[in-house]
Amino acid sequence: MNLSDKIRNIPDFPKEGILFKDITPLLRDKEALKEAIEKMADMFRDYDIDYVVGIEARGFLVGTPLAIELDKGFIPIRKPGKLPHKVLKKSYELEYGKNEIEIHKDAVNKGDKILLVDDLLATGGTTLAATEMVEELGGEVVGCAFLLELDALDGREVLKDYEVKSLLIE
Ligand code: PRP
Ligand code: MG
Repeated sequence: MNLSDKIRNIPDFPKEGILFKDITPLLRDKEALKEAIEKMADMFRDYDIDYVVGIEARGFLVGTPLAIELDKGFIPIRKPGKLPHKVLKKSYELEYGKNEIEIHKDAVNKGDKILLVDDLLATGGTTLAATEMVEELGGEVVGCAFLLELDALDGREVLKDYEVKSLLIE
């Protein structure tokens, strides 16, 4: 199946000048969803991983099934004010604005090997902030997995210190 056909381009969303990559058609198609998650898992099956960390919101949509497929637990990084226990907070720049993310301080322990997951690698700002949080808690980022990478935005350069793998590259 051509999974790229299942990702829809929406111009000027959420702001003028942004071409939004809508993954909902892929999620809605049971075969596309299964194939995408299995293939993302294949990219990291041989890696020594303790936990999958996914970034709210779209990182949850691919991250949790990916964790199940890799037989690992899942750790959420959330938008501010959503996690109930003690949190570590990080601010970062987004293609269309500023954002903050949080992780529970006790979610990652020293030496934990972490696979970071998100749906999209654009500027890399979100994932870089996530790597910094994981490392601040003593974790080791063994890789970053994406469903889709936008090559022109050079997120891979921002994440050059990490093993970055994307299922689809545009
Ligand atoms: C989008 C996308 C990635 C991030 C990629 O999330 O899901 O998380 O932007 O951009 P970057 O590489 O430039 O950081 P967004 O914050 O829009 O929110 P959502 O996942 O909650 O929809
Ligand atoms: Mg996101």
